[in-house]
Amino acid sequence: MLKYNSVVLAILNQKGGCGKSTVCNILAEYMAIMANKNVLVVDLDMQCNSSDYWVGMESSPRSVGGQLPPLHPDYDGDPDLEERSTIADIYFGKAVLPFETYVSEANGFKKRVDIMVGHPALLERINSEFDNESGQIEHKVINRLHEFLHMEEMKELYDIIILDTGPSRNPIFRSALRAATHTIFPFECEEKNLQGLIQCYKL
Ligand SMILES: Nc1ncnc2c1ncn2[C@@H]1O[C@H](COP(=O)(O)OP(=O)(O)OP(=O)(O)O)[C@@H](O)[C@H]1O
Ligand SMILES: [Mg+2]
Repeated sequence: MLKYNSVVLAILNQKGGCGKSTVCNILAEYMAIMANKNVLVVDLDMQCNSSDYWVGMESSPRSVGGQLPPLHPDYDGDPDLEERSTIADIYFGKAVLPFETYVSEANGFKKRVDIMVGHPALLERINSEFDNESGQIEHKVINRLHEFLHMEEMKELYDIIILDTGPSRNPIFRSALRAATHTIFPFECEEKNLQGLIQCYKL
């Protein structure tokens, strides 16, 4: 039986470009500044738009998606961590270091938002290797994010965890659904947006 300890808000819609990342990041800033909450953003989209917004992705033309996540400034050679520490690492049995970022109100008052960045190549690898709907391995992958985000330590560190998701139905997307306690569907009132919303339930 899966336990739900943390508040995990997933931003979902299978329609691309409907405002998921925008809502995710504005909401994270709002929660940190206006609601004084400890916020973690988790970027589960291979496009890594939210990672780029918060910490800047490195241009890497030869890498999948043309980008690499940045080196983590606190990486100290720990074998349980990658030097480009990303949320993808938890699916390979490793730990992940969040990046600390700060948002400022107009008066310069700083508030912290943590982000666990995405990794285009590794997220793509997880999605392609484990895209077997009935397979045992895929179930492990789908549950992995839930197990991680609902650990007692995560509940102590964060008041809210916001998941930015991509516009495809893949194992990572399913793991976001499994981990979520709350959802927001950014939605424009037209046919393709509605189809994208309906597809989220056809899993
Ligand atoms: N409410 C809004 N009004 C105007 N423009 C918006 C609004 N929300 C998002 N946009 C713009 O629409 C574009 C797509 O938004 P965004 O990247 O947030 O979509 P997305 O759903 O995350 O896309 P993807 O599915 O590719 O990840 C961006 O250029 C963004 O600035
Ligand atoms: Mg997006």
